Amino acid sequence: MIGIFDSGIGGLTTVRAIIETMPGYDLIYFGDTARTPYGTKSRKTVIRYAIENTEFLIKKGAKIIVMACNTASSVATEAIKERYDLPIFEVISPAVDLAIASSRGMQIGVIGTRATIKSGIYEKKILEKNGAAKVFSTPCPLLVPLVEEGWVTKPETAMIVKKYLHPLKTRQIDTLILGCTHYPILKAVIQRKIGRQVTIIDSSVAVSKTIKTYLGEHPEIEAVLSKNSRMDFFVSDITTQFEKTAESALKRKIALSHVEI
Ligand code: DGL
Repeated sequence: MIGIFDSGIGGLTTVRAIIETMPGYDLIYFGDTARTPYGTKSRKTVIRYAIENTEFLIKKGAKIIVMACNTASSVATEAIKERYDLPIFEVISPAVDLAIASSRGMQIGVIGTRATIKSGIYEKKILEKNGAAKVFSTPCPLLVPLVEEGWVTKPETAMIVKKYLHPLKTRQIDTLILGCTHYPILKAVIQRKIGRQVTIIDSSVAVSKTIKTYLGEHPEIEAVLSKNSRMDFFVSDITTQFEKTAESALKRKIALSHVEI
């Protein structure tokens, strides 16, 4: 089973990408809806939550772990990799690789939560891969609550997106990394506001391609993953709002089960 966790529901964008890229694998998802958002929390707290979420998924039978949350990936990857002896995937490196491969002028923009942008992880990883790249990052803290409220096509959301993207637009970026689980849900408005000439990199799509490649190269791990198209969705709190957001992230109706961890 592939175990995937996020601070909440937004990580279902990664589930969607995994289902599209490699259908058939059994998945277990944990969304930490009781403790969301992570993007405003301290590093120490996010690391503790990431450990607890990983424990839960392993106890449920996960054989590989996907940290769908950009914030958790930014601050907790090292701690999780040190602690657990199974393949751990974070969403930052795949998005960076895809951005570098797609960028024509190496003018790369990154948007994410405050914690992700403050960690500087995207910038660090991009510059490790290409020292000549220019990276422009900006936190977009209002976008997560707007998605959670279902304000995806509202003019107010378009206005806020435009304001957030303005500094990146003036830098004439050619590639933009969506460094947050929720932003793929706003992809259409983000593309409109940043301009059609900018390539958008969706970290959920990037990580699913990385997992597929990894499993192709590691048949011994691939062999232990069950493939009955089974999907179990657990959350630490259920509200109707979470159910609605889940539907827009996954683009299908799903049953969420409540669990205390
Ligand atoms: N899942 C978080 C991320 O990708 C966004 C929501 C939150 O702040 O917890 O950064």
